[in-house]
Amino acid sequence: MHKIRLYNESAPTYHLRYRQIQRIKYQAITPFLIEGPIIDVGIGTGIGLPSLIKFSPIVGVDGAVEMLRFAAEQIKEEKYKHRIVSLVCAVAEALPFRDHSVPTVVSITVIQNFTDINQGLAELIRVLQKEGRCAITSLSKTLPLDELESTIKADVALISQFEKLADEDDGLVFQLI
Ligand SMILES: C[S@@+](CC[C@H](N)C(=O)[O-])C[C@H]1O[C@@H](n2cnc3c(N)ncnc32)[C@H](O)[C@@H]1O
Repeated sequence: MHKIRLYNESAPTYHLRYRQIQRIKYQAITPFLIEGPIIDVGIGTGIGLPSLIKFSPIVGVDGAVEMLRFAAEQIKEEKYKHRIVSLVCAVAEALPFRDHSVPTVVSITVIQNFTDINQGLAELIRVLQKEGRCAITSLSKTLPLDELESTIKADVALISQFEKLADEDDGLVFQLI
């Protein structure tokens, strides 16, 4: 919760400061995802929207309502006019979605902020359909790849992994078996 408060306070500067670097991360994971509805957990200010636009509907979840306000401004742009993008203020540790409800879940540079990493990751997996794909990246200095991998408590097949993505994130894409 403390981290979410910080994001609420820094929303305007976050978008300007991080949009280039975060866009690289979204571009890296997108080719491994499955077409169809997608949930972006920790969507922030919506920096990933241009990469995720072909997946529709997009549901962006974030605990920080001020970050979501920025994302809401972006989806007013013409290119999103015929796309369904919904924004939900909620925490990763208690996602307001049914079990096995979507083929794709992404969470980019968020998991290291979770109040409870095990619970949050379990939630990302809970909402994923069988054979659905999940892409997660984390700040490598806080949660490196080996620790991230060992946090997954489900039968999954590894599709891809990343180290020092855009110089700072480790990450992986896995498929639920
Ligand atoms: C580093 S930003 C990344 C935002 C976006 N994914 C991007 O790449 O630009 C982390 C985001 O995760 C959100 N966040 C942190 N912990 C969260 C949690 N437990 N549940 C939901 N959102 C969370 C923050 O409010 C913030 O918007």
